[in-house]
Amino acid sequence: MIKPHGSDTLNPRFVYDTARHAALQKEAEGLPSLLLNSAAAANAVMLGAGYFNPLTGYMNKADALGVAKDLKTTAGLFWPVPIVNLTKEAGIKAGSRIALRDPNVEGHPVLAVMDVQAVESVSDDELQFMAKEIFGNLDAKHPGVQTFLNLGNTLVSGPIEVLNFSYFQGEFPDTFRTAVEIRNEIKERGWQKVVAFQTRNPMHRAHEELCRMAQERLQADGIVIHMLLGKLKEGDIPAPVRDACIRTMVEHYFPKNTVMITGYGFDMLYAGPREAVLHAVFRQNMGANYLIVGRDHAGVGDYYGPFDAQTIFDTRVPAGALQIEIFRADNTAYSKKLGRVVMMREAPDHTPEDFIALSGTKVRQMLGQGIAPPPEFSRPEVAKVLMEYYQLEDAKKA
Ligand code: ADX
Repeated sequence: MIKPHGSDTLNPRFVYDTARHAALQKEAEGLPSLLLNSAAAANAVMLGAGYFNPLTGYMNKADALGVAKDLKTTAGLFWPVPIVNLTKEAGIKAGSRIALRDPNVEGHPVLAVMDVQAVESVSDDELQFMAKEIFGNLDAKHPGVQTFLNLGNTLVSGPIEVLNFSYFQGEFPDTFRTAVEIRNEIKERGWQKVVAFQTRNPMHRAHEELCRMAQERLQADGIVIHMLLGKLKEGDIPAPVRDACIRTMVEHYFPKNTVMITGYGFDMLYAGPREAVLHAVFRQNMGANYLIVGRDHAGVGDYYGPFDAQTIFDTRVPAGALQIEIFRADNTAYSKKLGRVVMMREAPDHTPEDFIALSGTKVRQMLGQGIAPPPEFSRPEVAKVLMEYYQLEDAKKA
């Protein structure tokens, strides 16, 4: 099986030992608290679940700046996006132990216990430098930039021990999985070659066909659909609805036992190319051999070129830095001539009029206007789930 990133075995930061878990929980009640922001909480969940192996906690300033600039920690580990705990809170002391509280669960329970190694201030210039490197722009309208620049100017770094998986396990019991669980399930199924599919969408025809093409061309044993379960920007479809759509689609259109439907607890960064590389790192950690990267992967608006998230693997990822490979997909579209979804570069005899473009954004617009997406866009079973959701939303607004 493919090795995790940066170590021979996966070392999740969740505390599996029940005695240690109980002791930490007890200790946490007497410790000073830090109420995390959602971004830092999502990092803790990912660290706990083993997705951010081999990191043991939040990066210090030198590592965060190094990762932002050169995709490398000071120790030389390849890493694409700073994993930080930036806060507006004052008074945290280096050398102390603190309880990290969950902003996304009522009552703010303790999410993790942290050994604070350093508390460093980060200037606005340094924050902007990092944002520009990560997101490629400093536009305050970019949802990722906006979030990042408002996290705070104090960087609290050090290892953490994670006590739970926030709201993800409770809200998505059938879908949320740790990297440890996915590795185990891949092993149990006896899959040798595994393709991961990242998505924040209900899986329209474009997404479905990308999975099918990758599986056939790579002769893969299975696909792990790995959906984002954390926060999204306004207008994106909520996770429970996406989850229901994906389950419906897989049930009707994929052979049994070839697809695992799973999800991870992280907020969308909208960092395009950099996020694609982070996606590759954590799919390697969960045991996937390939990650599908198509058009405008992890993008938003038109901040990134349609294939920047593919070319970054040539320009910024040194040979051998990752073991997972990328399945590069061209723009997919429905061919009226062939009556099926194709990659556009593979239909050179087509004119633009021969294609119907398949875009999630377009589907969302149609649904918002109460129009059922045509079968070229969405499977009818999926369209039904989506229409029901949008009708409920409309009824709420009325
Ligand atoms: S993402 O933010 O999670 O990347 P989305 O769920 O829409 O968004 O996309 C999941 C994957 O499918 C990404 O790799 C994306 O590039 C790819 N994809 C989506 N639509 C298309 C399309 N029409 N053509 C090619 N690739 C696509």
